[in-house]
Amino acid sequence: MQNQDITEGFQHVDQSQTGFLIKFLEDVHRCETVQEGFAKQLAWLNIQPGQHVLDVGCGIGDQAFAMAKLTGKTGSVTGTDISTAMITMAQHRHAMTHLPLQVLVAPAARQPFAEDSFDIIRTERVLMYLKNIEEVFVEYTRLLKPGGKLLIFDVDWDALVLPHPDKELTRSIVEFISDSFPSGRIGAELFCHFKDSGFKDIQIRPHGYMHNLELTKRIIGGIISTGVDHNVFTNDEVNGWWAELERADAAGQFFSCFQGFIVMGTRN
Ligand SMILES: C[S@@+](CC[C@H](N)C(=O)[O-])C[C@H]1O[C@@H](n2cnc3c(N)ncnc32)[C@H](O)[C@@H]1O
Repeated sequence: MQNQDITEGFQHVDQSQTGFLIKFLEDVHRCETVQEGFAKQLAWLNIQPGQHVLDVGCGIGDQAFAMAKLTGKTGSVTGTDISTAMITMAQHRHAMTHLPLQVLVAPAARQPFAEDSFDIIRTERVLMYLKNIEEVFVEYTRLLKPGGKLLIFDVDWDALVLPHPDKELTRSIVEFISDSFPSGRIGAELFCHFKDSGFKDIQIRPHGYMHNLELTKRIIGGIISTGVDHNVFTNDEVNGWWAELERADAAGQFFSCFQGFIVMGTRN
C-alpha cells in the first residue's frame, strides 16, 4: 500500500486511496492515547438519555456509535461526513445495531438540519482539513439549541513533538507538514474561534496522541514525500532523517506526540 499524503487524502477521501484512509482511522482509534482522549470528551459532554447529538466529519462512525449507546432510544446520534466512502463504511460497520444512529453525507458548513436541532455537536480532527472555519462555526451555532454544547478536538501541527538529532531539518519538516494543512494551526486557534462565536463557559485542555514509528510514518510519511516531489527536501535528506528515527526505534527510543486541544463551550 502506497503512503497516502493525508492532507490531500482526508480533504478528498473519495478521490484518494480510500482503503489506506479507512484502515488508518481504524488503527488510530485503537491507540491508547486516542481512546483516553475520547473518554475525556465523553466525560466533559456527559451525554444524557434523550439528547440529540451530531458528530460532524464522523469518518467510519465508531465514535458516533459509542455516543448512540448513551443517548438511548429517546435520543439520537447523527454522523455526517463529506465522503460517501466514509459514510458507506460507517453504515456497513454499524448496521443492525438497533441503536438510534444515522449517518449521512454532508459538508461541515452545510448540514441538512433545521436550526436548534441538537443538544451536542462534536467534531474531531476535521477542521484541520478545512479553510472555511468561520462558516463552520456559524453553522454549528445555528444547529445548536440555546444551552447546547459544542466540543471540538483538533491538532496544532506546529507543536508536533518528534525528538531527532537533526533539529534544523526536523523544524523544516514540521513547518512543511503544518503548512500543508488548510488549517494546520487550528488546535491553537480553537479557543479564539469559540470566543469570537459567542460561546460561554469555554473549557480547554491539551491532549496529545502518542504514536509508534509505524503509525507516525503513515501520518506524516506521505506529506514529507510530497515535499520531496516539490523539491522542498531531497530524497537523501529525507531518507537519512527517517533512518535516524528507525535507529532510535530499534534502540527503544522513538517517541512522537501529535499535540492537540479539546475545547468545549456552551451556546448562548
Ligand atoms: C481524520 S478523519 C477524522 C474522522 C473522525 N472524526 C475520527 O475522529 O475518526 C477526517 C474526516 O473529515 C472528513 N472531512 C473532510 N472535509 C470535510 C468537510 N468539508 N465536511 C465534512 N467532513 C469532512 C473526511 O472525509 C474524514 O472522514
